Amino acid sequence: MNSTKAVISDYVVRPIESSDLNRAIDIWSLSFGFMDRDRWSMFYDSFLDTAIGAYLDDYLVSVAGITNFQMWLGEQLVPCAGVSAVAADPAHRRRGLVRKCLAACLEESHRKRVPLTALWPFSYPFYRRMGYEVTDLQYIIEVAVHGLPDVGDATRYRRLHMDHYEPLKPIHEQWIKQSNLSIKRGDLQWRRLLSHPERQICAFLHDDGYILWNIKDRANRTLDVFEWAWVSDAGFLDGIALLKRMDDLNFDRVRFRIGDLAPLLALGVPEPVPAITVKPGMMTRVLHTEAFVEALGKKVPPFLIDDPLGVSESYKGNGDSEPLGPFTPGEVIQAVTDFHNRKPASVPEGLYKIVAGRHNFTSEFF
Ligand SMILES: CC(C)(COP(=O)(O)OP(=O)(O)OC[C@H]1O[C@@H](n2cnc3c(N)ncnc32)[C@H](O)[C@@H]1OP(=O)(O)O)[C@@H](O)C(=O)NCCC(=O)NCCS
Repeated sequence: MNSTKAVISDYVVRPIESSDLNRAIDIWSLSFGFMDRDRWSMFYDSFLDTAIGAYLDDYLVSVAGITNFQMWLGEQLVPCAGVSAVAADPAHRRRGLVRKCLAACLEESHRKRVPLTALWPFSYPFYRRMGYEVTDLQYIIEVAVHGLPDVGDATRYRRLHMDHYEPLKPIHEQWIKQSNLSIKRGDLQWRRLLSHPERQICAFLHDDGYILWNIKDRANRTLDVFEWAWVSDAGFLDGIALLKRMDDLNFDRVRFRIGDLAPLLALGVPEPVPAITVKPGMMTRVLHTEAFVEALGKKVPPFLIDDPLGVSESYKGNGDSEPLGPFTPGEVIQAVTDFHNRKPASVPEGLYKIVAGRHNFTSEFF
């Protein structure tokens, strides 16, 4: 390697080759604090559809990757580039290299006419500067088990062993269909979720739902429900009854995550009062604008896109009216799905709320 200090033009951004996998794992494991090299290797082989890195003299220093998903947008599933594995060697951070790697990943997905891209950020401002916006809110409920109301019938939930988890899949498919911007889970994602090293999973199955909880960490006596899917009122109410029965030797509180408070609030306020934390969830943005407008399936007015990464184009329409905007690629998703529950003054009627029949909620982590 060169002995003089590297300048930005010395770095080359290009697809990562399999021969660099060990080096990529060095960067990921240090950056994410997760050291299982075999799991990283499996992640690279099976999950990452694109991996692009910045190199200094053939030495890999930063990485960004894409996993291809299908995401619900209104009434249809559309392709979505899920950004993951974003990390940089500490010696080469703060040089704009990750931004370049991410832009190169998005350019590749743009060439394939992928309409959307999404990610779970470590920092919201960081990805906001790359055109993404928050597009869903997640409510974390923490409640005393004995305070839960006695509704529903717990016996309708039956224990399911993890070597036979197939029945969860069709319920998951129905469940995600009830939300906008939810992500379809493939077999590999199921396996990865259920074999997570930090979890010891206990599953209960209902005709209209399932509950997955983690019993590995009992130290703070809080039962961690990491996924609860229900597709009818019974699935929800019977689940409340089941959680209420977990007032036992190990647990006296339960924590779960939902995308809509209404079913919980309809039960009235339990005593003691639950702690409800609202957190920003996933970030999303338009990628290929024309493909995105096609997926909307409706006539929309022309609009300008101001993309800080310079990847997504404005929508010209048939040129019979002046374009509106400019909007960032993330603001367009917020506008069409009515993320703010009100029309921002700058957003025209023709764009506002056009796929907003369902609230936005994504449970899929990647
Ligand atoms: C986050 C991380 C990938 C950033 O890498 P990097 O090479 O320093 O990023 P870049 O230099 O391309 O930064 C792009 C922009 O973000 C800013 N930025 C960099 N690190 C940041 C941080 N930790 N917090 C907020 N902003 C940051 C930079 O100033 C730059 O802004 P600018 O283009 O407006 O000047 C790196 O710090 C890392 O590997 N962290 C640990 C793993 C991680 O958190 N990954 C993200 C998972 S979503």
